[in-house]
Amino acid sequence: MTIAYPSNQSLQTPLTVSPPSGAPRPRLTFLGTGYLGATYAICFAEMGYDVLGFDIDEAKIAKLAAGEVPFHEPGLDELLRKNLGTGRLRFTTSYDEVADFGDVHFICVGTPQRADGLAADLSYVESAVTGLAQRLHRKALIVGKSTVPVGTAEWVEDMVRRLSPPEATVEVAWSPEFLQEGFAVEDVLRPNRVIFGVKSEWAQAMLYAAHKGVFDLAQTEDREVPIVVTDFATAELVKVAANAFLATKISFINAMAEVCEASGADVTQLARAIGYDPRIGNKFLRAGLGFGGACLPKDIRAFQARAQELGVGEALRFLHEVDLINIRRRQRVVQLAAELLERPNGPAGPDLSGLRIAVLGATFKPNSDDVRDSPALSVAGKLGRTGATVVVYDPEGLANAERELPDVHYAKTLSDAVSRADLVCVLTEWEEFRNADPVALAELAAGRRVIDARNCLDQAVWVRAGWVYRGMGRPALT
Ligand code: UDX
Repeated sequence: MTIAYPSNQSLQTPLTVSPPSGAPRPRLTFLGTGYLGATYAICFAEMGYDVLGFDIDEAKIAKLAAGEVPFHEPGLDELLRKNLGTGRLRFTTSYDEVADFGDVHFICVGTPQRADGLAADLSYVESAVTGLAQRLHRKALIVGKSTVPVGTAEWVEDMVRRLSPPEATVEVAWSPEFLQEGFAVEDVLRPNRVIFGVKSEWAQAMLYAAHKGVFDLAQTEDREVPIVVTDFATAELVKVAANAFLATKISFINAMAEVCEASGADVTQLARAIGYDPRIGNKFLRAGLGFGGACLPKDIRAFQARAQELGVGEALRFLHEVDLINIRRRQRVVQLAAELLERPNGPAGPDLSGLRIAVLGATFKPNSDDVRDSPALSVAGKLGRTGATVVVYDPEGLANAERELPDVHYAKTLSDAVSRADLVCVLTEWEEFRNADPVALAELAAGRRVIDARNCLDQAVWVRAGWVYRGMGRPALT
């Protein structure tokens, strides 16, 4: 079968393309079955593609093949089991199998921050591309999805040219992704845009064919998914520029929170008021404990490092300030805790020994079990270092949190964490915490003091239930 572009696409490419494997639709592989790769593999199988997921981690592959998603993401377990059942989705640890099977290979491995600086560690990208390219024996498209420093796609293309057999004429493309944890299934099935960084019409046509499921779904729902066809460098930059913008927006409102704290204003009302201006918009303007997770913090650092290498470090110097504003919010919670518990906040930090603090939330955001660079867990650690007994509860992140921060206590339920606490700190805005009954919790706690580090509780209701409430960037209500 050949695939035709819809008539409304003004793409300067041939209208049809046949997958090199001879299959009716391109067969897709996803290398790296972490958050990104596993979600993509499962969702693209759901859209009808034949998909092979690859990872070097045998335990992870065994879990996925047995129908178990190795992380918490709403809706994904069900789709995994459904698509394993159809036979469209399989998993492997064999590069040979990946090379034999696929027409389009998506590189989805991690690009963490390097241990020796701000830059991104590209060693996983290098080993995935190396492992695959040397085994390819017919034409194929290798598509980078991982978040990388600008220039990486050219480097990957060089590697592929050196390693793959010349007769296979393997090509490279770059197509960044924008999925948000907690909404990952929706973001993959219904993206708000797709980016094709390509050098040839064939690569563009193959990428289109590999996304036809996304466009078909949109058509049945009377939506449009804009496609931006561009060069490698722009495609790579789209991702880091988007994350830098989001991080800046969050730090902007957190900087306003600092000013509100000093002047008696309320940042939640300020955010609402400025957000009504459509040029500003009300999304990503929630002041609180700031951003964490596996993307925003390391992406803004790697972006600065790359800009420095390119000789334009000054252009991104503001991102250093964005990072500092973000980190300062964590210390602010410790400062508020000292104030509420009436302990002096000395240069070495407050001494909160003898006190018990309930920490509600360990993950970097709700509806995830991810604790990577989690502001909540960072604050739990800081509170632990004040000498206080810290008891952490999180609906999904306990196992990961215990591994990451073993030297605090963990409770299995919200009530257990709050029991006998002198202070309650809400550090992740889980629905369970937003809906918690402050009257019932007041019965359990030793002291009715609450820090709402995500501004997610109803201040008036908590104050009525007898709690001393402190939000972030908001005046105290009595
Ligand atoms: C982010 C990007 O949104 C996504 O497009 C990209 O692909 C990966 O990085 P994610 O890390 O899942 O996604 O989380 P996101 O929802 O962006 O939140 C990041 C952090 O910012 C969280 O810690 C969240 O609590 C915080 N945040 C978000 C705020 O503090 N205030 C806000 O208004 C919004």
